[in-house]
Amino acid sequence: MKLWNKKVAGATILTMSMLLGACNGTDKETTDTKDGDTSEKKVEIVYASGVDVTGATDKLIAAFEEKNPNITVKRQEMPADTGASHDQYVTTFSSQSAEIDVFDADVIWPAEFAQAQYALELDRFIEADGINMDDYFPGTVQSGNFNGRQYAMPKYTDAGLLFYRKDIVETPPKTWDELFDMASELKGKEGTEFGYLMQANQYEGLVCNAVEFIAAYGGQVVDENNEVVVNTPETVAGITKMVEFVNSDFVPSNILSFQETETNNAWVGGQSVFARNWPYMQSTSEDKEASKVAGNVGFAVLPSGDDTNAATLGGWMSMINRYSENQEAAWEFVKFMSGPEGQKISAVEGGRAPTIASLYEDEEVKEAAVLFSNEEFVATLQNAVPRPVSPIYPVISDIMQVELSKALAKDITPEEAAKNMQDKIVAAMAE
Ligand code: GLC
Repeated sequence: MKLWNKKVAGATILTMSMLLGACNGTDKETTDTKDGDTSEKKVEIVYASGVDVTGATDKLIAAFEEKNPNITVKRQEMPADTGASHDQYVTTFSSQSAEIDVFDADVIWPAEFAQAQYALELDRFIEADGINMDDYFPGTVQSGNFNGRQYAMPKYTDAGLLFYRKDIVETPPKTWDELFDMASELKGKEGTEFGYLMQANQYEGLVCNAVEFIAAYGGQVVDENNEVVVNTPETVAGITKMVEFVNSDFVPSNILSFQETETNNAWVGGQSVFARNWPYMQSTSEDKEASKVAGNVGFAVLPSGDDTNAATLGGWMSMINRYSENQEAAWEFVKFMSGPEGQKISAVEGGRAPTIASLYEDEEVKEAAVLFSNEEFVATLQNAVPRPVSPIYPVISDIMQVELSKALAKDITPEEAAKNMQDKIVAAMAE
């Protein structure tokens, strides 16, 4: 049976490689076996992706390799900080290097990478394999689409969540003010040191946390018409609340250096009553070997401000380097990771939220993580607030990071931060 499969797979790949060879000159070598059988030579592709504390990535690769014996995936680990990864990719791709074949892309990158011509258009592959993009959450597909072409396939989606200790908190807070009071009061219970953990370091995660505060108080950065609308009393109210949290006595004294990793480590170490993080922390929380809080973790939507409650839309996609010399094999891997089987592994092993709606009906997915059978959570994912979609997003983000950091350190007021962001983003977009 196995041999038969191998031969069929080999023949299919061979046909594809012949076609590809005819199309773009990327000819793949074949090996003649002793009995005259011709089978595909092994192809190695390099897959770059960020540090994965859940271990799901290795399982994804193993499952893919088992199904595709002719393709070996070599993992290249990128920094956990999305901004640092981004800068490394830009350096590599702007030199037209073929070193990386497939890479994970933060939802904020595809527009920029498409415009800079770093990424391969995927439409011909999607069509040839009959992939129905309507199976995916529309927002996640849009993040990978630029000028009508699909450059990235959705892998998983993210939305900010409030994690709380069920052994300390009876009912999670509904508003940011309630959270503030509960974090002050409850810190110290059950051996905790902190009331709340968040991401306040000067990096992309800071923008994600800020967008949640800003939207909760009715503010926005860029509106539907692509106008910069960040200098409003609503935004100021959101930033003011964030400054209060960061300067409270219930967050770690080094909260200004906290990213997701620091948050996760302190959380699974049992150090805090509440924390803001992405869904994957449900998986690390329940890892009985590494977590002191397994069995005691609850989740809620982030609290409301004066206006509503809001979660920032995050998530990751898969893209192919335009200069990859193994485009067919690269696509096979992208297709696997972003397809139902790959997304299921990410969900079950890594607690990552699928972008394929039907997976929320899958019994194994539902069983693996309580979040996935929670309707409120699925609604949060679908209503999450995107960051500005723009090929110059990194510039916008840098401006926000600098101004927000100054406000959190109380070097400038929230009013000044809002005004500076407005002026600088408008100027950057005009260039
Ligand atoms: C998560 C999100 C991503 C975001 C990043 C910020 O990885 O999925 O979209 O940019 O966190 O740190």
